[in-house]
Amino acid sequence: MCGIIAYRGKRSAGEVLLHGLRQLEYRGYDSWGIALKNGHELEVVRRTGKISASAPKLARHKGLQLGLGHTRWATHGGVTESNSHPHRDCSGSVVLAHNGIVENYQELKRGLQGHRFSSETDTEVIAHLVEKELAGGAPLREAFRSAFLKLEGRNAVVLLSGEELLVAKSGSPMVLGLGDGESFVASDVPAFLRYTDRAVFLADGEMAVIGDDVRLYDLQGTPKPLKEETIEWSPEQAEKGEYPHFMLKEMMEQPEALLRAGNLPKEDLAAAVAMVRKAKRVFAIGCGTAAQVANLSTYLFSCIAEMPSQFAIGSEFSHLKPAINQDTLVIAVSQSGETADLLEAVATAKERGAKVLAVLNVKGSSLMREAHHTLLVNAGPEKAVASTKATTAQMAVLLLLAHAVAGRADEGKRLIESASRAVREMLSRSEEMRALAQRLRDRQNIYIIGRGMNYPVAREGAIKIQEVSTLHAEGIAGGELKHYALALVEKGTPCIVLGSGKDILGNAMEIKSRGGDIIGLSPERSEVFDTWIQVPDLGPASAIVQLVPLQLLAYHLGIARGMDPDYCRNLAKSVTVK
Ligand code: G6P
Repeated sequence: MCGIIAYRGKRSAGEVLLHGLRQLEYRGYDSWGIALKNGHELEVVRRTGKISASAPKLARHKGLQLGLGHTRWATHGGVTESNSHPHRDCSGSVVLAHNGIVENYQELKRGLQGHRFSSETDTEVIAHLVEKELAGGAPLREAFRSAFLKLEGRNAVVLLSGEELLVAKSGSPMVLGLGDGESFVASDVPAFLRYTDRAVFLADGEMAVIGDDVRLYDLQGTPKPLKEETIEWSPEQAEKGEYPHFMLKEMMEQPEALLRAGNLPKEDLAAAVAMVRKAKRVFAIGCGTAAQVANLSTYLFSCIAEMPSQFAIGSEFSHLKPAINQDTLVIAVSQSGETADLLEAVATAKERGAKVLAVLNVKGSSLMREAHHTLLVNAGPEKAVASTKATTAQMAVLLLLAHAVAGRADEGKRLIESASRAVREMLSRSEEMRALAQRLRDRQNIYIIGRGMNYPVAREGAIKIQEVSTLHAEGIAGGELKHYALALVEKGTPCIVLGSGKDILGNAMEIKSRGGDIIGLSPERSEVFDTWIQVPDLGPASAIVQLVPLQLLAYHLGIARGMDPDYCRNLAKSVTVK
């Protein structure tokens, strides 16, 4: 969703901002804009569409370099230049960019009689609110603080006025980058990682003022110390390098990412094990792809640790409130740690006294701050909207956790090492999946069936195909087939069958008898398969390996159908609004 970058320092602000915005493109956007302070003048550029296609020449000037930029994923108001950020007040001396939704913007707008609005956005209200406070005599910081406190919803705002940048957040992510005589503000670290690895993650209810120095306050105006962290990701990790797409690069990084995931610090794992053992009830939650990993964890806990647990989609969790209390452990799975639906579920869980364990990729994210304990999966920066390496790394961490709960952590670690080798082998067979994608590219539907751990894998495989290629795909539990989905099978309907157990092959036979085109992904060949792709049997780690050919298929289907695999239609990487 929306991405923010702001800069104050000695470099060319135009270049820093354009680079930052390009680094944030992965979040998904439909328009973008930049405001640059040029002496006393403010240069504002706003465009719809992609940055590379329309990046203008931005003026370079001498002296202090100051500006902010934004990629917009439309929520309030269509995709137009006038709705693109940055937005200004009537005087043009306050300019700002925003991520989130001002839920009470209509009410606030009614209180801004006499102000001239030039967009349909909720964001513009903030600029006029600040203007109103300034007109009432408040100094800039007070005006900003007081305006921000009036906003309802999950919001992050960066404002430029005079020679200062002001930032505040109450939900959407925001991180400061500290350099030598220069400062950055961004929605995500890769936007400034090229220039500095020193970061301060803003917590909800904090604001920062960036002038000649950087100061942090709470929203009551009380100063707070800056808690600086060093980012361990290298700038190269966040670049495409030799690969044509981030998605391909990230899939190819899975063998190493799995090894890192399997190497969790012992003390972190021990603390998580203690939380699981102490709980009377365990809920695993997540959204989108992370929900499928959460679902898989219930199979892992059951089969490895013989422990019951439940699964819920993040956005559905609050409906299960009565079952949550201080004896509940919620395992929240996420790549970004910024998914609004998940954060809300975590807040619900905490309100009811539950403990929260995060299984997370992005260090310093909101989820990490909210959780009582975090297992970082350490997959490195993931930029393609469709998650791949973070997903398999989350699976590995949960596999390890289940083994550790059963007192067999070493066995879990060895399995992950085997999975890493098997994934490397699967990735070397990308051509096989490309050929299959060519064959399937014009079909209307693809069904994927699996049982046990292969069921969440089937669902995740279908999600990948939908997101990346826009071809309709559905993951179905093998046993459910004859309860509904068999009605959809006709001559030539492609059906991917995961595994070669007796029951799933029975399901495959039912489809074949109705003319289905059976593609088997399994350790052993079966005569029911029209096409067979061999995937090794690694016991409970098989799910990790089984997913990889489905990721490759989704990628190649996307390309074969003329899509850009890195930018899924209508989707955003980090969904920070409900
Ligand atoms: C978005 C993305 C999905 C992702 C989901 C959860 O919808 O498009 O790919 O699975 O958010 O994201 P998270 O960062 O919490 O894992």
